[in-house]
Parts: sequence; C-alpha cells; structure tokens
Amino acid sequence: MTRVLSCIQPTGQVHLGNLLGALRPWVAGQHTCDAYHGIVDLHALTVVDTPGVVGDDTLELAAVLFAVGLDPELATVFVQSHVPEHSQLSWVMECTVSYGELSRMVQFKDKSASREGAFISAGLFTYPALQAADILLYDADEVPVGEDQRQHVEITRDIAIRFNHRFGDTFVVPEAVTPPAGARVMDLQDPTSKMSKSSTTDAGCIYVTDPADVVMKKFKRAVTDSETDVRYDREAKPGVSNLLDVLGAVTGRPPTELADEFTQYGPLKVAAAEAVVELLAPIQARRAELLADRSELARLLRVGADKARTVAAATLDRAYSAIGLLPA
Ligand code: TRP
Repeated sequence: MTRVLSCIQPTGQVHLGNLLGALRPWVAGQHTCDAYHGIVDLHALTVVDTPGVVGDDTLELAAVLFAVGLDPELATVFVQSHVPEHSQLSWVMECTVSYGELSRMVQFKDKSASREGAFISAGLFTYPALQAADILLYDADEVPVGEDQRQHVEITRDIAIRFNHRFGDTFVVPEAVTPPAGARVMDLQDPTSKMSKSSTTDAGCIYVTDPADVVMKKFKRAVTDSETDVRYDREAKPGVSNLLDVLGAVTGRPPTELADEFTQYGPLKVAAAEAVVELLAPIQARRAELLADRSELARLLRVGADKARTVAAATLDRAYSAIGLLPA
C-alpha cells in the first residue's frame, strides 16, 4: 500500500478551507493508503511564542481530526513533539541541506518579509529541514501538498538523494502529489484569496466551530458581483463560483450542474450555508464530546504516537548508522 504523509500546523482555529481541502480527503484516504498525519506543533513554534497556545491549539486540532472521522486504527495520527525523532533527524537534515538552498525558499522569503521589524527566528529559516525529517522518517512515498508547499517537498527530495549518495541508500525519495479532489475554498469576503485564518476579517472565514446562525450570516454577506446570473466561472465570477464550489464539495455534485439550479444569488447563498451547517453539526457534536473527555483524546493520540515512533525510531537508527555515528 502506498504510504502517504501529510501534516498540518496547529495554528488557530480550523476552518472550512482546511476541512474541505485537506481533512475530508484525509478521511477518505485512510481507507485506500497507509496514511500518516502529523499535527506539527514544532513547526508552529517558528511563529508562536505565547505560553500554552500551541498545546491548546494542538488539542483542538486533534479533536477536530478525530471528529471529522480519522480513525486511529486506520491512519496514524500523531503530534510531532510526541515523537522526538523529528527533532533528532532534523539536525541531520540541517547538515545535509545548504544555506543557499534554504535561502531560496519562497516561504521563508515571504514570511520573513511579512515579519519585517519583528522577531525572525532561525527556525523560520531551517523550517524545511524539520519538514524533510517529518517526511523522510516515515519512508513516505507520496506527500500531497498544495502549490505553496511543493518547493518544500522538492528540497526534501534533494536532501534524501544527497544523503543516500553520501552515506548509502537510507531514505525513500518521496513524490509531491496533487491532493485528491479536495475543494479549494476561497475567502467569502475576498474570493480571489484562499480562505485562511490569517485573513484580515473573520467575516470571510467559516470556522468549524461556528454556530448555524453565524454560518448563515457569513454566507449571506459573501461577496458576489454586480451581475445577476448564476454561472460557474472562476475568472469572471469568483464569488459566485466559490459558493458553487462549496455547495458542490459538500453535496458531492459538480458545481456547473448546481449553477443551473439557481437563478439568483440569495437562494444560492442560503443553500450553501445550509449545506455547510448540516456538514458541521455532527463534527461539532463529536468535537465537543472529545474535548469534554481529555483522557480519551490523550489515549487516541498515544495510539498514534506509539505507531509513529516505531517507524520513526527505525529510520533514525538507519540514518545514524549510515553516517557512522558511534552507537550508544
Ligand atoms: N509546511 C506545511 C504547511 O505549512 C506543514 C508541514 C510540516 C508538512 N511538515 C510537513 C506538510 C510534512 C506535509 C508534509 O502547510
């Protein structure tokens, strides 16, 4: 079975874009591949420095992952910091990648520019080395990523190939793949930008925890355009097309076909909102249950950490002996 790994950072609340674009495809994928999913809390440290925040966000994200339907018996769901091999292999990765390669990472350039004048951690710079460790520790064949993360998978491949060349065949060289048909959800207030927790206002972002009335209000206020016809055209009608995409993703129907069923924006907004409310209701209920039972949540994460550690420890061992570090 193909081993697939994808990870998500616990920064802020989970939103509809995460849910439809990543988490639901993960749930589907656990039946068809050997899936590893890390909640990468150490990556979040590159930008978070307030005590307690990362832990709370990690717990929240874990609750949502299980509420959405990830099954610890099928997929390996773990918290990165529970598997110390990530930090250990990360150093080896740092010594296998060059300063020049890390300097060319677009995400580093963007993130450090946007933090101008603020604290820019060295971790923000070496971030791809930790990500390479995440991937290579699990002998992942495939890493489904969006465009923004392709470069990080490319550098991981380069690191793996270089290491294998220097020290002998040790790592599986992973492939970046396009994620399976997850919807790309845009900001309801700015439908040319991806829905994101860092958007300027909350009005364009549907959180998994939003109650029904808030979801309805956000959809009703969604930006459309000054024409009046409903048609699926991402270029000319990004707002309307986004509503159709959301409705399509939730109902499993093609957005172009849905477009024929609406003649006005109002009813389309209401239909999208109702579909999302219905999708969220059972997830919200299960999330609340899990968060009320912290020991169960901790148990589920221990199952994942144990499975992850078994694989990760063996890979780290292989890497250390390939290098020829003196055995302890
Ligand atoms: N860098 C990824 C992001 O910001 C998160 C991530 C960390 C990741 N490690 C990974 C994604 C390994 C895929 C595989 O979205």
